[in-house]
Amino acid sequence: MRLLIISDIHGNLEALQAVLREAQGRYDRCFCLGDVVGYGADPQACAALVRDVAAVVIRGNHDRAFVAPESALDFNPIARLAVEWTHNQLDAATRAWLESLPAGPVLGDGIQLAHGSPLDEDEYITSTAQAAVLLAGAGEPLTCIGHTHLQGGWRMRGERTETVARNGALPLDPGQRYLLNPGSVGQPRDGDWRAAYMICDEGSAEFFRAAYDLAGAQGKILRAGLPPTLAERLAAGW
Ligand SMILES: [Fe+2]
Repeated sequence: MRLLIISDIHGNLEALQAVLREAQGRYDRCFCLGDVVGYGADPQACAALVRDVAAVVIRGNHDRAFVAPESALDFNPIARLAVEWTHNQLDAATRAWLESLPAGPVLGDGIQLAHGSPLDEDEYITSTAQAAVLLAGAGEPLTCIGHTHLQGGWRMRGERTETVARNGALPLDPGQRYLLNPGSVGQPRDGDWRAAYMICDEGSAEFFRAAYDLAGAQGKILRAGLPPTLAERLAAGW
């Protein structure tokens, strides 16, 4: 079973379509780790597409903002403005779907799926020390997380936790545990503007980047009256 793992689409339809185009025929099921909406200009279309294509979708903190508006109070001003704008773009059925999304962790085909971390959906896992704690307590060989918008991850070999290479296929050794982040489809923050995703099976995982119509996505953000910085950051990948 080949799995397409996507996360943090953030309403960027051009990026999502590019990923699905590029991955077409190379996966059997798709899992989404949350943040389908927020920031980008196409929340409604992205939600419809994810709903159609993904077998499992868990909620991210931006999706939750529609269920529990008080949870957006600690968002930065631009993120909060995007939440309010996005709220007005969604029809009732899409809002209901977002509200129905389960919080992680959720098990999908033996893989633990979480937005921030299995312990806290709002936690940003960025360090090897954080990864080591999670991997030491992991019940499954592979855990997939999103939220940081940073593609990559860690492996635990015995007592030792180390970062994994992002180039080429990463063999998944049954004797080791892995914590992998597919990166963000719609708003990468690792200096590479291209849409990030991951494809894995029982024996290996591989990270990919898909070029997309960046100018198209930026133009929609500007025409929608969303903060220009949301368009600018897409080009820089931050
Ligand atoms: Fe996100």
